[in-house]
Amino acid sequence: MLRRLHPDQPDSFAFTPANLDWAKGQIAKYPEGRQASAVIPLLWRAQEQEGWVTRPAIEEIARMLGMAYIRVLEVATFYFMFQLQPVGSVAHVQVCGTTSCMICGAENLIAVCREKIAPSAHAISADGKFSWEEVECLGACSNAPMVQIGKDYYEDLTAESFAGLLDAFARGEVPQPGPQSGRYASEPKGGLTSLKGKEASERHNGSVALALALGDTVARITGEAVPAAARPAAPKAEAAAGRPEGLSAPRGGAADDLKKIKGVGPKLEELLHSLGFFHFEQIAGWSEAEVAWVDENLEGFKGRVTRDGWVEQARKLAAGEETEFSQRVDKGEVY
Ligand code: FES
Repeated sequence: MLRRLHPDQPDSFAFTPANLDWAKGQIAKYPEGRQASAVIPLLWRAQEQEGWVTRPAIEEIARMLGMAYIRVLEVATFYFMFQLQPVGSVAHVQVCGTTSCMICGAENLIAVCREKIAPSAHAISADGKFSWEEVECLGACSNAPMVQIGKDYYEDLTAESFAGLLDAFARGEVPQPGPQSGRYASEPKGGLTSLKGKEASERHNGSVALALALGDTVARITGEAVPAAARPAAPKAEAAAGRPEGLSAPRGGAADDLKKIKGVGPKLEELLHSLGFFHFEQIAGWSEAEVAWVDENLEGFKGRVTRDGWVEQARKLAAGEETEFSQRVDKGEVY
């Protein structure tokens, strides 16, 4: 497939201030002279911000990384994950058309796209809200047929359920991702025959739970927190008693490195930030009831606070002490 820059381009591109800070952080990961290694993350963030990769974005990223424009253009045109033309203002729908999905009805989903969005792929719908394309296997074959909308998967679709999803997005809603057939994950359609120990409290599989927690399905990424309106659903028990007081931003503009707490990785740190927790001292002060609240509301990571003893670790770190794990983080042994 010939991939070229779109004939209509905006005049300029600039990262939002928060995205610019993020981009500088990415560049700083690489040694002097190797800044070009950050080209894919920067192109991806430009696409997350704008919806597609524009020529001014390519030129700006080339300037930031000290690369020739043509080198960045080569990367952007090589990888199909980069959209080189404008996409719908609400969502760009990627329909899997590979074997499992094709056998299970992908062509019906494409017919819905042609009817409700635009007759051909990469064209924008009349209301400007949607665009679509057919893509290769997205790795959710056991939940075929499926589509990716924004950053999340919608699975076990029929033409009717898919059309309903598009209608919901058009109304400004963000439907819950995951299987649309009532299946929890990819268990047999007739129900589980083994490994039946799922807790009743586990309402969503891990992917759906995290998607709900992050809530950035179709949100453009500005680097700021995802607006509440873009979230598919508020975290369970949002207003329940026991919720520790959170902050709207880190004190002094600088959060502690919560990844120094054993059990907190980049995703959990992001989730903690979205709940308003940025400092060791905050976690160190959680009461038993507050630990229970956080444990319950870490969608996809339930029970981690207790399991990994976050409060005890945070008390030491807040007091300026080190833990065996934080020493390993400081030495760069943990990523
Ligand atoms: S064939 Fe569609 S997800 Fe694999």
